[in-house]
Amino acid sequence: QRYRDTTTTEKMNPFAEQEAWEDHQIGKATLKFGSKNKKQTTQDYEYVFEDQIDFIKASVIDGDDFDEQAAANTEESKAKSALEKLQEDRKSLPIYPHRDPLLQAINDYQVLVIVGETGSGKTTQIPQYLHEAGYTKKGKIACTQPRRVAAMSIAARVSQEMGVKLGHEVGYSIRFEDCTSDKTVIKYMTDGMLLREFLGEPDLASYSVIMVDEAHERTLSTDILFGLVKDIARFRPDLKLLISSATLDAEKFSDFFDSAPIFKIPGRRYPVDILHTSAPEADYLDAAIVTSLQIHIQHPPGDILVFLTGQEEIEAAEELLKHRTRGLGTKIAELIICPIYANLPTELQNKIFEPTPEGARKVVLATNIAETSLTIDGIKYVIDPGFCKMKSYNARTGMETLLITPISKASAMQRAGRAGRTGPGVCFRLYTLHNYHTDLEDNTVPEIQRTNLANVVLTLKSLGIHDLLNFDFMDPPPAEALLKALELLYALGALNKLGELTKSGRRMAEFPVDPMLSKMIVASDKYKCSEEIITIAAMLSIGNSIFYRPKDKQVHADNARMNFHTGNVGDHIALLKVYDSWKETNFATQWCYENYIQVRSMKRARDIRDQLVGLLERVEIELTSNLNDLDAIKKAITSGFFPHSARLQKNGSYRTVKHPQTVHIHPSSGLAQALPRWVVYHELVLTTKEYMRQVTELKPDWLVEIAPHYYQMKDVEDAGSKKMPISRRQS
Ligand code: CDP
Ligand code: MG
Repeated sequence: QRYRDTTTTEKMNPFAEQEAWEDHQIGKATLKFGSKNKKQTTQDYEYVFEDQIDFIKASVIDGDDFDEQAAANTEESKAKSALEKLQEDRKSLPIYPHRDPLLQAINDYQVLVIVGETGSGKTTQIPQYLHEAGYTKKGKIACTQPRRVAAMSIAARVSQEMGVKLGHEVGYSIRFEDCTSDKTVIKYMTDGMLLREFLGEPDLASYSVIMVDEAHERTLSTDILFGLVKDIARFRPDLKLLISSATLDAEKFSDFFDSAPIFKIPGRRYPVDILHTSAPEADYLDAAIVTSLQIHIQHPPGDILVFLTGQEEIEAAEELLKHRTRGLGTKIAELIICPIYANLPTELQNKIFEPTPEGARKVVLATNIAETSLTIDGIKYVIDPGFCKMKSYNARTGMETLLITPISKASAMQRAGRAGRTGPGVCFRLYTLHNYHTDLEDNTVPEIQRTNLANVVLTLKSLGIHDLLNFDFMDPPPAEALLKALELLYALGALNKLGELTKSGRRMAEFPVDPMLSKMIVASDKYKCSEEIITIAAMLSIGNSIFYRPKDKQVHADNARMNFHTGNVGDHIALLKVYDSWKETNFATQWCYENYIQVRSMKRARDIRDQLVGLLERVEIELTSNLNDLDAIKKAITSGFFPHSARLQKNGSYRTVKHPQTVHIHPSSGLAQALPRWVVYHELVLTTKEYMRQVTELKPDWLVEIAPHYYQMKDVEDAGSKKMPISRRQS
């Protein structure tokens, strides 16, 4: 159970033991707080303040640039018409007074590092300034973003500001979704997409400006882009290169780009009070909810921004908040809850930017995306639990996991800063000052040093970059991780013994998915089941948001889900069945409702599948169906995922075959009860245990048949497996 378990909470939360009773004013009622004294509280409020959280003021982040005038301007501009207002807004951004000097600097230098406080207008304004100054006559402007929601949302905003239709002059390009046209001159895109554009256009000839935005995020793709754009800038003197970032690390970028000048946009920031809890919080999600309600009831108007780690947590928080505000009845002002995370449907994304109605308060529940990528005006209170979801990679085992990890001090300061953009603010940190000083690293480790590199190595190899050890990295990845990637690509047949790209590798690189998945697709040719495999690939690309499980209908939902698992076909085939059944109904929405399946996810799977069909054509793989031979489909899956094989242990857990590690079948899997002897899995997720998600049964001899260079007979037989032939005969 993810929520508070009272017994452990009491133990872990020293504050609960302090029995510090305090009087607080809420409206007219004077209430007592404390977990043991609920009876004394008014019925309505009792629920919320079971656990009053005690904050201690520790510091204020500077507000040197406190700007009364700007605040007044913002007020004034409220009365104008929508389009006029947008233009007024543009002029009130901190970057505006620097427009001409900035354009001059871009004219004078080929490479420019631009730093400026988040929200100063870098992402939305610079491409427009360049367009106005005529740069788009010579080619497109690319502006990269680490996150797809940011690329979409900013493109939408800029098209509004320019009064054009999204996808015409201003568009965006993210994986599996291209919203651009021949007219497009300003193109917001994920950094990963620009990386892929190198494959088709190695000198990016159709661009006049490349703006690598949010450079401080140091995502894997951004880091690789640094090396590539630095290289093409040398033989394309006409190309302008902008590296823009929030205030961190500007010197480092400048050094990397041969001492490129740094253009600083002076920030406009109001003072922010930073408060820490007096004692550690055992359950930060619960603490975040309590704090939100505390602010809502006790503090002056101003919106709240809560940083959470991901979609599941945000959805849980949304539920809890709705439930608890309902408990408060009509005595309190309206609280508008706005979630924002990577998979949030487009039509809901704009909600976070809508102005809060008079008398109400908005609470934005966001992932790290709101740290620097998106600026939401009107935030006065920030709640920072101090965690984010972060990838970590074990180069020895080649295993990658997403972990909920403490953020860095740099992140914590960015988060706090979000409270002071439109006026003085407060940041509530759900950790102690001592935690801040001792447990948080100064900076986040760049992704390149904590991730699986197989995908970028394949991309670089396709670009003809062979000497990876000498690639111009800003911070090089561990040599061990590079070797591991080369090893995997060799095992998958994408590289030969000399490390050169094979025909199969070239085909794999065409697909914008991880190498194991692209290998599975390419292998489907051999097993004559490309129709089925691309459906499975598309469904796997959606992540785990296909089935839903409403609290009050869990049994129905589980039954509906298990229907697709009849015969213990495994999760991959079940996904195929889901898609095909939906297709049979002519993609009916009603069918999705009846089966507890998310329509939105299915539509996305359909889009992705359509694109994969196009890519199959490009690599000349015929679309063939082999639905009656499930083993053929499973062999194609195994061809890509054989490094992810695991064998059942006596105690019901599994052991991965190549680098032995204990893992379990995820409870959501159709095979969670069946426990087949040998399985291949899609991915590992670490929650309370290391779980395999999306699991299919395999026959051990397939491993030797499909990957003889990877598995030997001795890997798939041992003392315990002597009985194997018998049990196999039985099954
Ligand atoms: O890139 P930087 O952080 O410097 O600022 P920006 O993203 O260009 O944001 C400038 C302004 O545009 C902020 O006031 C945002 O709130 C606003 N904006 C918006 O209203 N809607 C969006 N979808 C994106 C930005
Ligand atoms: Mg920005």
